[in-house]
Amino acid sequence: MNDISITEQEFWKIVNLLKDQYGINLSQKKNLIVGRLQNYLHRSNFESFSEFYDYVVDDKSGEAITLLINKLTTNYTYFLRETEHFDFFKSTVLPHISATETGKDMRIWSAGCSSGEEPYTIAMYVDDFFGRGKNGWDSKILATDISERVLSLAAEGKYLTESLEPLPPAWRENYFKRVDDENSQVVERLRREIIYRKFNLMENVFPFRKKFHIIWCRNVMIYFDAATKNRLVDKFYEHTEPGGYLFIGHSESIARNETRYQYVQPAIYRKD
Ligand SMILES: C[S@@+](CC[C@H](N)C(=O)[O-])C[C@H]1O[C@@H](n2cnc3c(N)ncnc32)[C@H](O)[C@@H]1O
Repeated sequence: MNDISITEQEFWKIVNLLKDQYGINLSQKKNLIVGRLQNYLHRSNFESFSEFYDYVVDDKSGEAITLLINKLTTNYTYFLRETEHFDFFKSTVLPHISATETGKDMRIWSAGCSSGEEPYTIAMYVDDFFGRGKNGWDSKILATDISERVLSLAAEGKYLTESLEPLPPAWRENYFKRVDDENSQVVERLRREIIYRKFNLMENVFPFRKKFHIIWCRNVMIYFDAATKNRLVDKFYEHTEPGGYLFIGHSESIARNETRYQYVQPAIYRKD
C-alpha cells in the first residue's frame, strides 16, 4: 500500500479547521493526524489530504466533519476515574444538594462524556446515596459529547467485564448484567438515568434552560488553547447554580485570576 503523505500546508489546514470549529488544538499532533487518517484515506480512495479536506469542508450534511472528529478525538476514559472527585461528590456535593434542593430537582452535566463510564459512575453514586429515597427526585444526568461514535457506545452501556474492576463488587452486581463471556451491560434502570446528546462545547449558545448543580468537564479541555478554555469556563460559570461546582481533570488547571469560580481543591471549583 502506498502511504499518503501530508504536506505542511495540508497539516495546518486540518489543524485550523479543528481549532476554529471545535477548540481542539492538534498543532503538536502531526503523527496522530497522519496515523489516524492515512488508512481511511487510502481505503476511501482519496488521493491526498487536500482532497479529503475539500470533501470535509464542502459536505453540508455534517457527516464528513463528524467522521473527522470521531477519528481524531481522544476518547480515553474509565470507570471511577479520578476517585478524589467522587469522594468529594459523595461527602460534600450530594449531602448539600439533598439538604437544599427543596424542589428535588438535581441537575448534573457530564460535558465530554465519551463512552459513558463517567456519567454511569456518577449515576451509581447518586443511586447509592439516595437509596430508596431517590423516588421523587428528578436526578437525570445530561451527558454530551461531539463524537456520535462514543455516544452510541455510551447509550448501549456495554463494556468489557474486566473494565468494571475499579468498581465495588456490590455495584458490579447491582448495576450490571452479564451479556456474554466477556461483556456486561449497565442495567436498564441506570441507563434510563442518563440523557445522551450530541453537543459541541464550542457552540456560542448553550441551549439549557436551567442551571446545573454540578458540571463535570474532565480531560476535555486538554487540547483547548488558553483563550478557548477561559471562554468555555466562563460559559460553564453562567450555567452553574450559585453554590454549584465545576470539576475538571486533575492534569488541567484554571488560572485563579481568570475565573469567577472559587478554587476549592485540585480540579474542583465552586460558584459562590
Ligand atoms: C478524553 S475524553 C474524557 C472523558 C471523560 N470526561 C473522562 O474524564 O474520562 C474527552 C472527550 O471530549 C470530547 N470532546 C472534545 N472536544 C469536544 C467539544 N468541542 N465538544 C464536545 N465534546 C468534545 C471528545 O469527543 C472525547 O470523548
